[in-house]
Amino acid sequence: MDIANLRADTPGCQTKVHFNNAGAALPPYPVLQAMQDYLAEEANCGGYETAAANATALNRFYMAAGKLLNAPAKNIAFTSSATNSFARALSCIPFKKGDVVIIANEDYSSNQLAFLSLEERFGIELVRANSLPEGGVDVDHMVSLIHARHPRLVSLTHVPTNTGLIQPVATIGKVCRELDIPYLVDACQSAGQLPLDVEEIGCDFLCATLRKFLRGPRGAGLLYVSDRMLHKPWYPLFLDMYAATWTDDDTFIPASDAKRFQDWEQPYALLAGSYAAIHYANELGLQNIADRNKYLCGILRPRLQSLPGVKLLDKGKEQASIITLSAPVSDPQWLLSSLRERNINTAVSVIAGALIDFRSKGVNWALRISPHYYNTEDEIDTLLDALESLLANP
Ligand SMILES: Cc1ncc(COP(=O)(O)O)c(C=O)c1O
Repeated sequence: MDIANLRADTPGCQTKVHFNNAGAALPPYPVLQAMQDYLAEEANCGGYETAAANATALNRFYMAAGKLLNAPAKNIAFTSSATNSFARALSCIPFKKGDVVIIANEDYSSNQLAFLSLEERFGIELVRANSLPEGGVDVDHMVSLIHARHPRLVSLTHVPTNTGLIQPVATIGKVCRELDIPYLVDACQSAGQLPLDVEEIGCDFLCATLRKFLRGPRGAGLLYVSDRMLHKPWYPLFLDMYAATWTDDDTFIPASDAKRFQDWEQPYALLAGSYAAIHYANELGLQNIADRNKYLCGILRPRLQSLPGVKLLDKGKEQASIITLSAPVSDPQWLLSSLRERNINTAVSVIAGALIDFRSKGVNWALRISPHYYNTEDEIDTLLDALESLLANP
């Protein structure tokens, strides 16, 4: 990877040391340009006319996302966020009282809330697989639960937002495929960070967002839907005239492809920016990105660990480009804003974002540092120096 060139291609790199890629990464110029050009054309020519003139170019989003995930373009829907993708997927499953859903303790907080809400409204039973002492889902326990409980759905977050670990999504997918159980994977933090292959994972739904490691715009997401799901008579609870066709006074036919999960109205400038972002990642190569991030984390983790009073909270056999730590400061917001004053971006995760995980670690907040391939060794030095001096005078 030509890091100097990649940084020159990233306006934010000129002024900020950005270690908040798990929040929202810095977009490169092609992403910015695609959105600015599209908005200018809309303003000059009209929204509908611009969409018609750019139909072929906009369609490249579905092909690029398909390439990213090893899926046909027809199995991809464009949405507004990973959470929105998740809700659309859930809303097509005809849950009945007593249906079992199996998830992991480390799954994303909004996903947990969605299931708690389904429990309240439809009487489903949410069952969480145990975690291993070293972190991550206990695969044997999850597999035995799947065999014993015949769930309506299994869901797993690939890279949880706060724990630093990578969950074994393909191992669980294999079991779901053998038993023909719908499987929903949240790849919000892994998309753009790790190679993803929906065939290998064996999932029926995969949710992602654009603004994180994919370096795309905010307010954009995607949903992969397998043919297994599209062949079922299942469709999202609320359909619009893009997702389905009104065929007679009282009948309709849902779209045969993943458009079934999409709205008619779209933020087309974001769609253009999302294509540019995914194309950028595909061109760089996801394995190259993963290797570079592993290298950066390999430098960062031990150096952070050696700072006085700092405790790394990351668990799991396999770790991702999300580093969480606790530090001896009483006000985490002070730490965050003091780093920001030095033009260093990080994030603070609070307990409600990872309730079960943080409780088990005995912390109620964590500083989250999430490097991406365009970060450098010099930036790591800058971050470490700043943390060292701030922690010396909390
Ligand atoms: C693992 C995971 N899933 C889902 C989400 C939600 O993504 P979005 O805000 O795009 O809905 C996040 C956001 O941080 C996340 O970390």
